[in-house]
Amino acid sequence: MNNATRRAVIAGIGSYVPEKVLTNQDLERMIDTSDEWIVSRTGIRERHILEDNLTTSDMAVEAATRALRHAGCPASKVDLVLLATVTGDYVFPSTACIVQEKMGLTNAGAFDIGSSCSGFIAALSTGAAFVQSGNFQNVLVIGADAISRMVDCKDRNVCVIFGDGAAAVLLQAGHSDRGILSTYIKSDGAGCRHLYQPAGGAKLPPSLDTITNRLHYIKMDGRETFKQAARAMTSAAFEALKSAGLEVSDVDLMVPHQANIRIIQAAVQRMGLSMDQVAVNIDRYGNTVAASIGLALDESQQNGRIEAGDHVLLVGFGAGLTWGGIVLRWGV
Ligand code: COA
Repeated sequence: MNNATRRAVIAGIGSYVPEKVLTNQDLERMIDTSDEWIVSRTGIRERHILEDNLTTSDMAVEAATRALRHAGCPASKVDLVLLATVTGDYVFPSTACIVQEKMGLTNAGAFDIGSSCSGFIAALSTGAAFVQSGNFQNVLVIGADAISRMVDCKDRNVCVIFGDGAAAVLLQAGHSDRGILSTYIKSDGAGCRHLYQPAGGAKLPPSLDTITNRLHYIKMDGRETFKQAARAMTSAAFEALKSAGLEVSDVDLMVPHQANIRIIQAAVQRMGLSMDQVAVNIDRYGNTVAASIGLALDESQQNGRIEAGDHVLLVGFGAGLTWGGIVLRWGV
């Protein structure tokens, strides 16, 4: 196949959320908050929380198994596993290797991508580049996070917004007008302390002091993150569209990272889209970090909101700070 016309196409997609649901009413009984506050400030009504006996790789395996089944691709044909996560089973090795072992993907290479809430965009862009270059034929891209494990249940600013989940796509090579048309990735490390987990890494290894001071939990400057998010998502959307040679008016469906309904509304307004052109499921899942865009994309294709030939715009934003966008034409 001529690499100039070779594109990565989404040949299969799947997602998974844990069974256990934590509602705003449950949170009202745990901390000083209210359903009214959470819904009006974030749009979230409930989120799914991973059971204690399961971990990130378990959710990743469920989503990836569904994606392979959807594509009709046997495990033996997968060449590469890319797992976007900031809540891997261990600090090392890559949780992608654990997924590889659990799924019997014996012919694949595997590594993690830690780009937080932009992780799905980063992993999908990386996978697309590998497919387009001709290096790999079947690339399994997964976004999975058990972020509830890093959330301080005493921090009402943080614990109401996050939930757990996983999503996966199988990328294959295609040579029609379908597939990934453009990718855009950007970051600004000056914003790294707006949203981070201070302890547990090489800078502050685990100690009695870090545990006593709750430094293994997410710390977030909500207002600053909010301010940057709408601007960055809009910029990512315009850059990805420009590089695909398309206009906002060409977009059939935008699938944004689900962090806060007000961030999504602000970005959508700046872009001149209307909310009925946008996939929103934050009310049921909250912010599922690297899973969120894939989860919303999978729901959209399952409920018939995407048809073959549609232009779909994926947009993400997250810790780092990082942001990015992908434009694709749906179908194989
Ligand atoms: N329940 C009730 N009150 C809460 C609360 C909660 N869960 N969390 C915060 N508050 C209070 C604050 O303490 C503050 O009270 P005060 O005025 O008495 O000090 C008040 O609500 C307003 O706080 P503020 O931080 O201005 O609220 P906000 O409108 O900015 O909403 C967030 C807070 C976290 C929902 C919002 O900033 C946000 O979503 N930011 C982006 C976070 C994000 O998306 N992170 C992930 C990026 S990928």
